[in-house]
Order: sequence, then structure tokens, then C-alpha cells
Amino acid sequence: MKVLSLEKIITFNRESLALVPVWIYPDEWVSPPTLFNYGLPRHVFHLINLPQSNEPTEADLLCMFLLQRAAEEPNETLRYLEIGTSVGKNAFQIARFASQFLPSFELHFLDLEKPNPTFANLLSALSDAPPVVREGSPYVQTKYPSGYVSPRGSTPYRSHLWKRGSNLFTYHEGDEFDNKIWSRESLGNRPFHVVFSDALHNPEALLHEFSMLDSQGLVDPANVVYCFDDLEHSADQPMWSAARTIFGKMQASNPRLSMTHYRVNAWLGQHEPPHNFGAITS
Ligand SMILES: C[S@@+](CC[C@H](N)C(=O)[O-])C[C@H]1O[C@@H](n2cnc3c(N)ncnc32)[C@H](O)[C@@H]1O
Repeated sequence: MKVLSLEKIITFNRESLALVPVWIYPDEWVSPPTLFNYGLPRHVFHLINLPQSNEPTEADLLCMFLLQRAAEEPNETLRYLEIGTSVGKNAFQIARFASQFLPSFELHFLDLEKPNPTFANLLSALSDAPPVVREGSPYVQTKYPSGYVSPRGSTPYRSHLWKRGSNLFTYHEGDEFDNKIWSRESLGNRPFHVVFSDALHNPEALLHEFSMLDSQGLVDPANVVYCFDDLEHSADQPMWSAARTIFGKMQASNPRLSMTHYRVNAWLGQHEPPHNFGAITS
């Protein structure tokens, strides 16, 4: 198990980014056919491919957490879940990092959209074979946050599975408010070591994600680093309040947990203001 400084992680991740000159092509981003343009608004579309500085990003922190968890549990298969994967910019950095530095891993990516073709090709290049696609059962409507309109209608949940030896990359294509997407079996039957919530930036969505993972035994407060993107600047706001509720629930079974607020660059690097990123760690 290699020990890497944050500086080395940053260097490795910038190399990963440099391998991908274009993350998404306009005709693969436009809506329709995409549901929500992969959450990448038109006014920042031109920023997604710009080179990033060596200031730390969320991807760098997530890799650091993965490495720390791997060092603490050297015989475990490291399990990562990203809720909201978009074009795969953060996810590819995690996938390439895991392939290089983690002895054994399972990475799960979840999004409403179909896998971005560029991201799918990058995962295929890290894998032994093209993905196996499984059609899931039909959409089951659940309780939505107020005002939420599901863009998926009756489209079934689908999973896309790539293998690299015994290591796995799985892309779960579906709505996080469709209970099928949270099946314990398709999510790998064991708790995650690192969770990154970055889909619908809405407090009810955060609470829903945690409650689905918790009810299925997929988060163990003694063993997980649970992260949130796009919290507000100030801790008395609704996203923070949801994150604190989750923290409180986890702390009830592990009083050693703490929650840290980072102001850190995200998928567009220094080309947009830093994001408020929260991490619950023990
Ligand atoms: C900000 S982007 C994720 C960025 C990505 N984590 C990164 O850093 O590279 C948010 C993503 O969440 C997805 N999303 C939004 N609502 C969702 C829902 N109800 N279920 C699943 N995914 C959703 C969007 O399709 C979009 O791709």
C-alpha cells in the first residue's frame, strides 16, 4: 500500500485530466437527448475542458480519503459511491487513481443520464472488456422533494458494469428517487468506505440518499467518509441543516465522528469560485 502526499495526488490527478482534451461534445450534451445537460449549464459549458491549476480539488480530497481508508483496512476491497456523476470528470480521476493505487476496489457511479460516451470509453480503456449492460425493473415512483418532476417517466433503471481483473466500475443509470437504484444487491451488498453526494443539490435529496443507504446497511458510521458538494457558505442554510441531520444520525452510533467544512475547487477547478464541501470522518 503506497503512502502518497496530497501533492503527489494532485500531480497524478492533473495527469488524468490532461489525458482528456474534451469531456463532452455539444451534441452529446444538448437536451434532448440528455435530460438535464449532465447538470452542466450552458453558461459554464466552455469551462469544463480548461486546464486546472494545482490548487486542491474535491477529487484530490476524495482520493486522499480513499487512500487513508485503504491504509486503515489493507485487506478490504475499497468501496466508493458517487451520487451524481455527470460527464465523469471527478469519477474518471477516482477510477484512474484507484486503478493505480488501490489493491482492490469497487466504484459505483449513479446518475439520471446515460453514461457520457467519453467517460464510458475512458472506463473501457481501464477495463478488460466493454461493459455489460443490464436492464433493471421499471421505474417505481417514490416520494419526491416538493416541486420535483421526474424526467425519467417510465424509463427503466439500467446498470453498466466494467471489470478490471476482480475490480469493478459500475454506472447506475437512473433517478435517485427510484427505489430500484438503491438495491443492496446491485450496490454490492456491503457498506461503502467513501460516499460523495453530488447530484440534486437539495436538502430532501441528501436526506433521501442517506436514508436509502442506511436502511440497506450500506453506510457504517464507524467506517465511512461521507462527503457533500455544494453546501452553502453559511452553516445555518438548508443544505447544511440536512448534512448536520445526517451527521447527528451517524454520530449517535459513532461519537468519534467529526464534520469538516472545506472551501475547495470542484469540477471546473479555478475557473469558478470554490465550492463548500463537507466531509464526515472519524
Ligand atoms: C454537479 S453534477 C455532478 C458532477 C460530478 N460529481 C463531478 O464532480 O464531476 C450533478 C449530476 O447529478 C445528476 N442528477 C440530478 N438529479 C438527479 C437524480 N434525481 N437522480 C440521479 N442523478 C441526478 C445530474 O444528471 C448531474 O449529472
